[in-house]
Amino acid sequence: MTETDLPFSPAAERNQQPILDALRQVLPERGSALEVASGTGQHAVFLATGLPHWRWQPTDQDPAMLPVIAARRAACGLPNLRAPLRLDVRADVWPVEGPAFAEPFDAVFCANMLHIAPWEACGALMRGAARHLTPAGILITYGPYFEEGVAPSEGNRRFDASLRDTNPAWGLRRLQAVENQAALAGLALHSRVPMPANNLLLVWARTA
Ligand SMILES: C[S@@+](CC[C@H](N)C(=O)[O-])C[C@H]1O[C@@H](n2cnc3c(N)ncnc32)[C@H](O)[C@@H]1O
Repeated sequence: MTETDLPFSPAAERNQQPILDALRQVLPERGSALEVASGTGQHAVFLATGLPHWRWQPTDQDPAMLPVIAARRAACGLPNLRAPLRLDVRADVWPVEGPAFAEPFDAVFCANMLHIAPWEACGALMRGAARHLTPAGILITYGPYFEEGVAPSEGNRRFDASLRDTNPAWGLRRLQAVENQAALAGLALHSRVPMPANNLLLVWARTA
């Protein structure tokens, strides 16, 4: 697979710079990050480039995406970007194949999965992040949410409807419901960063 043949996400191309800018505000200078639901791997390459002192571990549940991420990794040759691993958040052991992670991560990053996965993936992400983060580590989620007391944008309403048409188990999540799942895993919302196109970058940290 050459780079031009690889599956490409225009949305990831659009949001990668705002995400990097926000991550630079919330992450320390160096550390190790586990990316959940890396998809095409565009974010992995862009963020590992922009955060050169972070070791970046891309993953996805879809076995078809792993060679795509691997090809982008090979093309960029970044020393801080690790080979992709298969990880389904719903599995009791992360990753699904190969040895379990031996070291905890300073950050877990997950963009655009919660609304494109069954609801059970939300609690599973929270529990898995709690298992694999260092005591001071943070989980960062990025995507669109419905918020209590905030009128949803027309775009997010339409996006939610189109997701539910595609798969009734998908759809934008209510932030309060996500917070409830986080609380069950011992995490709480630490900060909320408004992002372009009615998205949010949310930072979750341990409650104790
Ligand atoms: C819309 S893509 C987002 C990809 C990338 N993070 C981005 O923002 O461009 C959603 C990704 O979530 C992954 N995904 C869905 N369910 C998952 C699960 N249970 N565990 C891990 N990844 C999952 C899919 O395989 C897909 O790659």
